[in-house]
Amino acid sequence: MSVVALVPAAGRGERLGAGVPKALVPVRGEPLLVHAVRGLLASGCVQRVVVAAPLSDVDTMVGVLASAGADALVVPGGPSRTQSVRLALHAAMADVPDATVVLVHDAARAFTPAGLVRSVVERVNSGSPAVIPVLPVADTIKRVDAHGVVAATPDRADLRIVQTPQGFRLDVLRRAYDAYPDDTTTDDAGLVERLGVGIDTVPGDPHAMKITTRFDLAVAEAVLG
Ligand code: CTP
Ligand code: MG
Repeated sequence: MSVVALVPAAGRGERLGAGVPKALVPVRGEPLLVHAVRGLLASGCVQRVVVAAPLSDVDTMVGVLASAGADALVVPGGPSRTQSVRLALHAAMADVPDATVVLVHDAARAFTPAGLVRSVVERVNSGSPAVIPVLPVADTIKRVDAHGVVAATPDRADLRIVQTPQGFRLDVLRRAYDAYPDDTTTDDAGLVERLGVGIDTVPGDPHAMKITTRFDLAVAEAVLG
């Protein structure tokens, strides 16, 4: 059973505002993308990594991965994360025809522990069609209306923060991407959920946090790298 990992890395990193795509921003001397790909390979259970890069940065990403010794296939991504995942999925199916399990993992979650990657893969290998890592919610969450007025207070005990890698039986993820060609959700499991497939959870890890802002980058420099 081959496991392929798709790494959407084609975002511009607008909220970080580093002037380069977020995946190329260095933490402790190496781009986030290198940390992310290395973490997947270090799990020992991923046979192939496929990176979706911004169209203008494919060669740069090929270069940084090669010089770091982090082996991955780099393909051009699309205008939305969904499109990038879709393009990486097609490339992965052509590159690894016997793949049965697929992980989707944000380059921005560059410091995800290898043990979390393994726990997602193990859960899919033991029969789950779709698996996501989750954490409990520490803050109270409010739903608000268009004017910012509180409309509801969902019970925090029922809420979870969702991380990546999300793991799927390859045929299930493919079916979801085929079924919703125009969807621009940023949550792959959300697409699979719409097919009526049950999504299982495994415990996430604070180190798998998504680096979105300068504050997150400072946290990564301080504690994650
Ligand atoms: N992503 C992608 N293709 C896109 C947009 C996003 O592959 N067209 C990837 C990003 O590179 C990132 C992951 O999806 O690894 C999660 O997206 P996000 O954290 O929003 O990153 P950016 O889109 O780069 O950041 P921003 O929204 O601040 O511009
Ligand atoms: Mg984005």
